[in-house]
Amino acid sequence: MAVKGDTGRVEVTDLDADPLRQLSAWLDEARAAGQPLPEAMTIATATSDGVPSARLVMLRGLQGGLAFFTDCDSGKGAELAANPRAAAVLHWLAPVHRQVRVTGPAERVSEDEAGQYWSARAPAVRLSAAASRQSRVLASRAALEAQVRDIARRHPGGAGLPRPPRWGGFRLLPSHVEFWQESPDGLHDRIRYRQQGIGWITERLSP
Ligand SMILES: Cc1cc2nc3c(=O)[nH]c(=O)nc-3n(C[C@H](O)[C@H](O)[C@H](O)COP(=O)(O)O)c2cc1C
Repeated sequence: MAVKGDTGRVEVTDLDADPLRQLSAWLDEARAAGQPLPEAMTIATATSDGVPSARLVMLRGLQGGLAFFTDCDSGKGAELAANPRAAAVLHWLAPVHRQVRVTGPAERVSEDEAGQYWSARAPAVRLSAAASRQSRVLASRAALEAQVRDIARRHPGGAGLPRPPRWGGFRLLPSHVEFWQESPDGLHDRIRYRQQGIGWITERLSP
């Protein structure tokens, strides 16, 4: 795949036939360009009556979709349980000047996958995740720290701390993926993949 610079142009023929492979290639290029947190992505969800909310998470895998890990009882988890659709945005600054947008249904990752990710986390991070009921109102920071100390007493250093059942992940299964490349003259390139059957239709959108 051609690497596009500041004044690069993106043609459909430059892009991989598979949008997840294409996203992986752009991520590699963002990493190589020294972008801070290239895997940071905004995930938007909505309540069942359509009230949206968005927040950053880390993209942790591209096998079959965009995987991220979280407390599934959180605000986003509750919204995805009621309305299992999401939108994601990744953005890379200069010299990359690119954006990728993804929409589609979202599903929970398997228990196995959640377990593997949990095991790979640093013990201190596991302790914090076990103590925190993400998105719930806290009486104080001290109350949360007391909860961490309490769990740490029972699991010194976080060793052997089991994954709370609420702690897992979601996979956004893309039905639309758009690759956007900035052009200094404002004539930005936008190539959208639209799922059709088991394949993809690619089309150019006006900037
Ligand atoms: C750069 C960055 C990365 C983050 N990564 C995650 C993540 O991978 N998983 C997560 O649950 N929260 C992550 N957060 C925190 C979320 O943005 C958010 O505060 C939290 O998930 C609660 O969101 P909710 O109440 O909408 O569920 C991250 C925040 C930032 C700024």
